[in-house]
Amino acid sequence: MLRLLLLLFSVVTLAGSVIITQKQQVSIAQCPITYYTEKYTNVYTDVSNGRLMICFKGFYNPGKSNDCIQGPVIDKNQITFNIYQDNSLSSTIRQKLKLLTNDLKCYSYFSFLSEGRTTALKLYQFGTQTALGLQYSDYQQPGTGSTDYPRYAYTLVNNEQVHSVVASKAAVENYGDITGCRLNGFGMARNTVKSFPETCTTGSCSSAAVVTSTTCGDREYCDGKGSCKQRGLCTVTGPTVIDFRGQMNSVSDRCEYTLLQDQSTGFTLKANFLERRRRDVSFVDSVTLDFSQGADIQLLQGHRVLVGGSPVTLSGSVQTFNGVGLSKDQTGVTANISLGGASFSLFFDGTTAQIFIDVLAGHSYKGLCENSSSFSSSKLSSDSSCQQQYQEKVDNTVNCTAVTQQCNILKSPPFSSCNAVIDPQPYIAACTETLCKYPAVDGLRCQFLGAYAKACQKRQVNIENWETAAQCSSSTVMCPGRTCSDHEFCGQIDNSTATGCRCRAIFAAPYINSSSFGAPTVCQHNSASLTLVGCLLEQRGIDYSLLTLLDKTCKGQVDETTHLMTFNFTSDNCGTIVTTNNSQVIFTNAVTLKDKITRKDQAFIEFSCLYKKPEVNHVAFRIQDSPVVQTVVSGDWNHTVTMKAFADSMRTQMLDPSYQVQLNQKIWVELKSSGLDENLISTVTDSCWATNQPSSDSSQKYFLIQDGCANFDDQTVQVERNGDGTLNYFSFNMFKFTDESRDLYLHCKLQLCLKQEGNCIPPCSVQTKRRRRSAKYHQRDAAFLSMGWST
Ligand SMILES: *[C@@H]1O[C@H](CO)[C@@H](O)[C@H](O)[C@H]1NC(C)=O
Ligand SMILES: *[C@@H]1O[C@H](CO)[C@@H](O)[C@H](O)[C@H]1NC(C)=O
Ligand SMILES: *[C@@H]1O[C@H](CO)[C@@H](O)[C@H](O)[C@H]1NC(C)=O
Ligand SMILES: *[C@@H]1O[C@H](CO)[C@@H](O)[C@H](O)[C@H]1NC(C)=O
Ligand SMILES: *[C@@H]1O[C@H](CO)[C@@H](O)[C@H](O)[C@H]1NC(C)=O
Ligand SMILES: *[C@@H]1O[C@H](CO)[C@@H](O)[C@H](O)[C@H]1NC(C)=O
Ligand SMILES: *[C@@H]1O[C@H](CO)[C@@H](O)[C@H](O)[C@H]1NC(C)=O
Ligand SMILES: *[C@@H]1O[C@H](CO)[C@@H](O)[C@H](O)[C@H]1NC(C)=O
Repeated sequence: MLRLLLLLFSVVTLAGSVIITQKQQVSIAQCPITYYTEKYTNVYTDVSNGRLMICFKGFYNPGKSNDCIQGPVIDKNQITFNIYQDNSLSSTIRQKLKLLTNDLKCYSYFSFLSEGRTTALKLYQFGTQTALGLQYSDYQQPGTGSTDYPRYAYTLVNNEQVHSVVASKAAVENYGDITGCRLNGFGMARNTVKSFPETCTTGSCSSAAVVTSTTCGDREYCDGKGSCKQRGLCTVTGPTVIDFRGQMNSVSDRCEYTLLQDQSTGFTLKANFLERRRRDVSFVDSVTLDFSQGADIQLLQGHRVLVGGSPVTLSGSVQTFNGVGLSKDQTGVTANISLGGASFSLFFDGTTAQIFIDVLAGHSYKGLCENSSSFSSSKLSSDSSCQQQYQEKVDNTVNCTAVTQQCNILKSPPFSSCNAVIDPQPYIAACTETLCKYPAVDGLRCQFLGAYAKACQKRQVNIENWETAAQCSSSTVMCPGRTCSDHEFCGQIDNSTATGCRCRAIFAAPYINSSSFGAPTVCQHNSASLTLVGCLLEQRGIDYSLLTLLDKTCKGQVDETTHLMTFNFTSDNCGTIVTTNNSQVIFTNAVTLKDKITRKDQAFIEFSCLYKKPEVNHVAFRIQDSPVVQTVVSGDWNHTVTMKAFADSMRTQMLDPSYQVQLNQKIWVELKSSGLDENLISTVTDSCWATNQPSSDSSQKYFLIQDGCANFDDQTVQVERNGDGTLNYFSFNMFKFTDESRDLYLHCKLQLCLKQEGNCIPPCSVQTKRRRRSAKYHQRDAAFLSMGWST
């Protein structure tokens, strides 16, 4: 009872007691406290699970970060609050809490009924230091089932418990020192140490409430499990990027990305990604070192290097370009770069790029190697085509369970000897993620294992004989002596170990869809050309250097850069078969494998050119304009017809408008076509007649040639050449119409005749005058030409 009296009366009140409800904001500005380094001048009383909550940043809300003291159970909606300016307990408390160095100044007092006992919770202010007191009375309130078990109070910082104070015996006040420190938002008691494994931070709060912390060094990163790992190793293999922090992510498009950018020097290391066998998986394809000044250095497929766009030949010894040491061995190309005091090296073998930072020199970098999640800020390509995503069918040959087992070998010997130095998990994840989607061909499985082994080697851990243990042959040289073009990549052919240039999936898709090996045949006049795509043939195991046309001596021409193969042929070479029907002329040829009968079905590509049959328009010209050259376009046949008259049989002395033709003088008329394939087509002079009017239909007509043959009644007419080529001529003696007309017009009808149909020469004989028209040529195909003479 004595102690209870002490509790109630031995104090000097500052403001006079107030009754507050469970939920109320109360000012403690007259006795502010420092609560784990935060100074508070208000409290917010509240109840949670029936227990009193005294919070400092606002009312208690379990979803909101707050600093609170969680008191004991509260019975009624009533708290007596007061602030006391009293230091009488100073030495009592400081005897219990040895770290308190200041004197007690004042305290805030909260009294309430807790399970039938009056309970007091006090916040003692010792200047910048703070103590929490808790006590319950030994007086049992009448009519309550009072209990005499301990009451607890807990301090919470950001909702996490730091201290607890227990009043274990009635009428005895217990104290806790709640001065403390804060680290990463967590509260800490004085003279304690706390570790944060996610960030590898360890902090200690000293007796003077000063916090000190240690975390990973400049050249280290935290593995999220409390260990600091060495920083500065970035692996890009296939679609995956394992950044300096060991975080793995995959590139899902075919764009160019920044791997590393040093803003202070302007240096950027870029990687371009492209698809291979599947349109939905991309692989690192080339790496570019872009200097703010000086030529770019590009490391390409097939261990090729371009400096400023020009190829350079590298050997085992280091050559310096633009301050970069470049060298090459059978495994790949290495570049050593020193910039602004930082130095690092880059290795690229066509499938894996690894960046090792030797000296950071305080530079900070951006890009996928710094943060493999930063795809959007690291993307360099602005065109949208590289971002297009494709849906591909799931590859049923992939057994994800088996693949995962194979990738997990990185946790077993001999790889496990490196596990402590380099976490195998991101490499296993890269391997599994890729190979569960993409077939384990083209050495892909070993590529992931090799990337881990190479990373270990850089950390001075040599994994002995990993190739043997993992059944990876280290000696396989991919595509020896070959340079695949931009639409190709070097890969396995069939299931064999042989490698060759295969088509990239997006390039090949339209050809595969149409089951073709190349572009449609291009037909022109009497020639045609066919272009085949080398990689489509190669990935089917066809050695395209052996391909020929039907005539085995006709080989294709291969473009060394694009690997496109072109076959040219005309109607009369390379074994071309020419057929015709009423409306069309068809050239047919085929590409076939030389001397490889067994594979003939695979490589036999038949193709045709279809042409409309010749059809010639009427043209007319007069001798006054002689010689006149006219272009005749008829369907596919574009040719020039010339009609000339000569005074001599050798056809050297041409009759021009000034020439005076004498009556009965013998003249020669030549009809010549050019632009036609003479091997295929002949011109036939079907008929020639004279009129005294410009119109060919005038009533006065005198025939010199009819149905391809000379007018038998006019002995002067001689058809000297007709139908065996594209040049025809005939002769006749000049005459005059009897009606005194001054002009004479000569009209000829020419027609084109396909030689393959048979003989185009009209069969004329003395006996058969007025022959029926030859079945081989037709009136409607005729060209109609006229020539006139003025007298
Ligand atoms: C690159 O630098 C590393 C470390 O400085 C060195 O071990 C390596 O031999 C160098 N390689 C070349 C090709 O310069
Ligand atoms: C990495 O980048 C992502 C996306 O930009 C970002 O959300 C994340 O916080 C970054 N991580 C680090 C460690 O900077
Ligand atoms: C996948 O591989 C696992 C382990 O090698 C094997 O047990 C399972 O039968 C395979 N599944 C199929 C569908 O082949
Ligand atoms: C390649 O292997 C697959 C599956 O093992 C098989 O179905 C296919 O016929 C093989 N192809 C060749 C050309 O051997
Ligand atoms: C294949 O060709 C057809 C018809 O030309 C077209 O409709 C289809 O979209 C094509 N498919 C692909 C995958 O290109
Ligand atoms: C084949 O024909 C194409 C198109 O007419 C031409 O460009 C090319 O030079 C020709 N090639 C050969 C080898 O004749
Ligand atoms: C001629 O060939 C074309 C193309 O092959 C075809 O459409 C047409 O029906 C053929 N005509 C005859 C009479 O065979
Ligand atoms: C016919 O040939 C001439 C001369 O070569 C050319 O100018 C013209 O465009 C050609 N016409 C057609 C329809 O091919």
